[in-house]
Amino acid sequence: MNQKSMNPKNILVTGGAGYIGSHACVELLQAGFRVVVVDNLSNSKTESLSRVRQITGLPLTFYQCDIRDKTALADIFAHEDINTVMHFAGLKAVGESCAKPALYYHNNVYGTLALTEAMSEANVKQLVFSSSATVYGESGCTQYSEHFPLGAINPYGRSKAMIEDILRDLSAADILNQAKAPWKIALLRYFNPIGAHESGLIGEDPNGIPNNLMPYISQVAIGKLAQLSVFGNDYPTPDGTGIRDYIHVVDLVKGHIKAIAALEGGTFESGGCKAYNLGTGQGYSVLEIINAFEKVSGRRINYKIAPRRAGDLAECFANPELALKELGWKAEKNLLDMVADTWNWQTKNPQGYASVEAGCASTEATG
Ligand code: NAD
Ligand code: UFG
Repeated sequence: MNQKSMNPKNILVTGGAGYIGSHACVELLQAGFRVVVVDNLSNSKTESLSRVRQITGLPLTFYQCDIRDKTALADIFAHEDINTVMHFAGLKAVGESCAKPALYYHNNVYGTLALTEAMSEANVKQLVFSSSATVYGESGCTQYSEHFPLGAINPYGRSKAMIEDILRDLSAADILNQAKAPWKIALLRYFNPIGAHESGLIGEDPNGIPNNLMPYISQVAIGKLAQLSVFGNDYPTPDGTGIRDYIHVVDLVKGHIKAIAALEGGTFESGGCKAYNLGTGQGYSVLEIINAFEKVSGRRINYKIAPRRAGDLAECFANPELALKELGWKAEKNLLDMVADTWNWQTKNPQGYASVEAGCASTEATG
């Protein structure tokens, strides 16, 4: 037996109130897992968890807690019978990470260290980690496979790369020491998650003006923002605009459920730490995304061509074959699904979760 005898269906989700974490909670609950969420609400609201319960009709347990608070984490592990951790908690804004690098290293890197220490002490050694395609950096490739060299180019990306290194080292040490219960870790490198749950009850609710393309377009479409800037139309791509691998958030979180199954199975039988790309393998340009959004929403997207954004690659998409081979996962939803679900969420929640939260301050989602 690799772990102490815990219920394999008990999952701790860090950052579970956030965009991807809340979608993961829905999938986990619907797949029969018991879910315990830890979130400090630095970039989210408890309303998302209330919506998770509304979608699933199932309870979840919520602790408002910072993952850097090891004492609080130890207490949670002592009270909850946790088998596996899905670790989404982290700060993710590239620009902010350049302005406040120490905050990013403290929150993301130290936070993960505190989490893994608390896990180790509680003998919980199965982890699914939210990494990012941003760890690949600018290697001059367009389609990325997991064995490609890493080279993140900003503090956010480097925080993810450092965490990957730490997790690989923890796992290697256990294998070297022939630990009875070695770490089993899946590093999931997301490409560009977009979309929302088909109910329109949960979705992406960025603070302030969005940095990312899809929430920006959707706020232009609803009339919250006046005009989209297309960052560069002189890239060496067919229409000159940047190409990315957009993946539906529900497909993405399904990959996490498959990763848990893999951690429990043969690939990780003797422990280990492995990276998997979660992308579709298909790239779309900025103009293709705008056209798809206009088609689905029936609204015209007002945009202008602006200079390239510093640090952007011309083209970046996944080779998703390893996830198919070892996790048995592949993305199912197409671009129109992603756009339609984004628009459904945006039209049903023009102010995101804000309006509900203002009138409903106490939504602690313990249940
Ligand atoms: P999000 O900001 O919506 O969710 C992150 C959650 O973590 C938030 O609820 C926030 O309050 C919480 N959090 C942050 N620091 C914490 C801390 N110290 N203790 C406890 N909770 C904390 O972001 P998301 O888009 O859902 O991203 C989830 C994860 O996926 C992040 O780690 C992010 O870096 C990674 N990721 C996201 C993308 C993307 O485009 N959204 C791409 C690649 C990787
Ligand atoms: N873009 C615009 N205008 C905007 C925003 C974006 O033209 O207002 C363009 C960008 O130049 C790029 C494409 O749209 O060509 C996608 O940009 P995003 O900001 O949506 O996404 P990125 O690929 O830059 O980065 C995202 C996340 C990172 C994550 C990475 C993983 O922001 O955190 O995906 O691939 F690491």
